Amino acid sequence: MTINPVLIKSSYAAIEAHGSEVTAHFYRHLFEHHPAVRPLFAEHLDEQQDRLWAAIGALVTHLEDTETLVGVLEGLGRRHAGYGALPAHFPAVGGSLLATLAHFAGDAWTPETEESWTAVYGVVTDVMGRALTAELATGSA
Ligand code: HEM
Repeated sequence: MTINPVLIKSSYAAIEAHGSEVTAHFYRHLFEHHPAVRPLFAEHLDEQQDRLWAAIGALVTHLEDTETLVGVLEGLGRRHAGYGALPAHFPAVGGSLLATLAHFAGDAWTPETEESWTAVYGVVTDVMGRALTAELATGSA
């Protein structure tokens, strides 16, 4: 699977135009399909919604800057140890993220776009998951 940065950036631009609707949809989807993760999150998600969306935007911005991207993802992975997140949660979050992106991308969502976002999430899962696992192993979370 390959990441096509042009497709990621153009579909992201189409999705971003929908503003806060996007993250609201993501959390609705996640909690409906995976209610077990709901208690990990604060009751009121307003601030959290913005931060998650800002993180996705940062990933898109730094897509071709591997060093920065890996640093951002490692930091996120380490911090997630303190939120009760586990590597086993990544497929659920990725599924809801992909479903949400597809929902808002409109015509920009093609099989190639889906393949690119799936590959991006593969990198996210890999790098964040490894940093999370390492942090959990130190027992400092
Ligand atoms: C694409 C992958 C993910 C991204 C980009 C992401 C991004 C973020 C960001 C930016 C924050 C705000 C705090 C911070 O910057 O450390 C956050 C908090 C959080 N994330 Fe994630 N996250 C991802 C995956 C996950 C997964 C797999 C879980 C597991 C269920 C999870 C659960 C949480 C929780 C529980 C919080 C704290 C929420 C709260 O305070 O209510 N995240 N995430």
